[in-house]
Amino acid sequence: MRALLPQPVEAVDLVETYSVGAPGNGPWFVRVSMVSSLDGAVALAGRSGGLGGEGDRQVLRALRSLCDVVLVGARTARAEHYRRARLPAELQQARLARGQGPLPPIAVVTRGTDLDWSSDLFGAGEPRTLLVAPEGVEPPGPDRSAVEVVPAGKGAVDLRAALSALHERGLHHVLCEGGPTLNAALSAAGLVDELCLTMSPMLVGPREGALLGGWSAGPARWADGPGGPDDRPRRLRLLSLLEEEGFLFLRLAASEPGDA
Ligand SMILES: NC(=O)c1ccc[n+]([C@@H]2O[C@H](COP(=O)([O-])OP(=O)(O)OC[C@H]3O[C@@H](n4cnc5c(N)ncnc54)[C@H](OP(=O)(O)O)[C@@H]3O)[C@@H](O)[C@H]2O)c1
Repeated sequence: MRALLPQPVEAVDLVETYSVGAPGNGPWFVRVSMVSSLDGAVALAGRSGGLGGEGDRQVLRALRSLCDVVLVGARTARAEHYRRARLPAELQQARLARGQGPLPPIAVVTRGTDLDWSSDLFGAGEPRTLLVAPEGVEPPGPDRSAVEVVPAGKGAVDLRAALSALHERGLHHVLCEGGPTLNAALSAAGLVDELCLTMSPMLVGPREGALLGGWSAGPARWADGPGGPDDRPRRLRLLSLLEEEGFLFLRLAASEPGDA
């Protein structure tokens, strides 16, 4: 993979490229990672896999290797059949050298318990999966020890409270892997510090769901959902641009307050 900006480099070190320099706006740092077609679609037949490529998987691995926790919306966890994070031995060693656990835990954001509790994500093992949910929500079944509940908000998930609760557990660097509804809620609350967007060299078309077997297209954009108090047009600052096989990998920082 080559870098085009900030300066041309023929073969980039992804972990170095995506290392976090400046802190975020709060005590935590929230990085959103998504892949999108050129016409803004984030899923093909309900899943993101058809949009990505090997380079995208490499970037995601680097991003996961750097974060303290992976945050994901319940619908994405369900649609993409989420499992615990896996990393090659050298990236686990690098995490240990930085004082992190060998693997980042997955934190699923949900209002309830409609999840596949038989999946690897919720089975015994390390690191324990986190369930970010409103107060009072508990995983079903007698053995709850495989999951750590992070209560955040009453009736609905308060995302600021969720980030604060993760921070209290030593999980400061948050990699949000979507989906669009969770991204939009984070963005609307002014909680996104950085966007890592892969532009896939694909046009999906407005009716891809209908064309691909009747799947009804979900949210079309990387962030899509009800607005919030911090919603406004805003300009992001390009930190780096990488390229491989026509895929463009943009890393953008949230702009300063007041920019539009
Ligand atoms: N292209 C990509 O990079 C990419 C990445 C991720 C996902 N996707 C695609 O995006 C689709 C899923 O995205 P989605 O937007 O439908 O769902 P989502 O953002 O993954 O999950 C939304 C769910 O999160 C839970 N939630 C709880 N509190 C929330 C809050 N305060 N704000 C937002 N969500 C909250 C709710 O779960 P409950 O309903 O359980 O209460 C809500 O239904 C899938 O098709 C997936 O393949 C694409």
